[in-house]
Amino acid sequence: MAVRCWPCQAASLILILCVEYLAGGISLVMKKTILLTGATGYIGSHTWCALLAAGYDVVGLDNLCNSVAEVVGRVAEITQTQPCFVEGDVRDSALLGTLFSRHKIDAVIHFAALKAVGESVENPLAYYDTNLNGLLTLSKVMALHMVKNLVFSSSATVYGDPHMVPIKEIFPCPRPIPMVKPS
Ligand SMILES: NC(=O)c1ccc[n+]([C@@H]2O[C@H](COP(=O)([O-])OP(=O)(O)OC[C@H]3O[C@@H](n4cnc5c(N)ncnc54)[C@H](O)[C@@H]3O)[C@@H](O)[C@H]2O)c1
Repeated sequence: MAVRCWPCQAASLILILCVEYLAGGISLVMKKTILLTGATGYIGSHTWCALLAAGYDVVGLDNLCNSVAEVVGRVAEITQTQPCFVEGDVRDSALLGTLFSRHKIDAVIHFAALKAVGESVENPLAYYDTNLNGLLTLSKVMALHMVKNLVFSSSATVYGDPHMVPIKEIFPCPRPIPMVKPS
């Protein structure tokens, strides 16, 4: 884990500010608790460190399909805390229900996703299942527990090959390239 990667730290800081804004400002009395999905992944692990350093309680969730459990130890080492980690799948609504019942979650940062463009073309169903089902399952459990603050991480790849960088949100999102050519 490249902890000194400043773009990641900057991205994490922006996310924290978003969460802070969504969750209604800093509470001096009680720490806010964030459910961080995809916690042991690339962006998740940096965000985890930044959230802990900023004084949040974090429940990290990851099924380790694209990361390793050792990351939790690295987060502990870097932040000098004992991170709360749950190995599990974001599509598991029963597990999510348990997490929301056990912890008073104030906001969710959702990074648990599959993101490799080539692989998504080879195996689209797995991508729909994780990325859409994951988000839907999470949203439903959040609604059930009346948690309304969600930071969703999309992908710049939705903009295809942009005509200029940096990409602006107002840029058009081209239709995906069809996988089957007409015969
Ligand atoms: N890496 C980037 O530069 C970048 C930039 C912008 C947005 N994003 C988006 O941020 C998100 C995370 O990206 P990343 O680069 O950290 O990817 P990553 O693969 O390193 O992290 C994703 C994590 O989610 C976990 N995961 C996958 N499916 C899961 C499931 N069903 N349940 C629980 N955990 C699951 C994986 O094990 C992994 O640890 C993606 O949506 C990606 O599109 C990434």
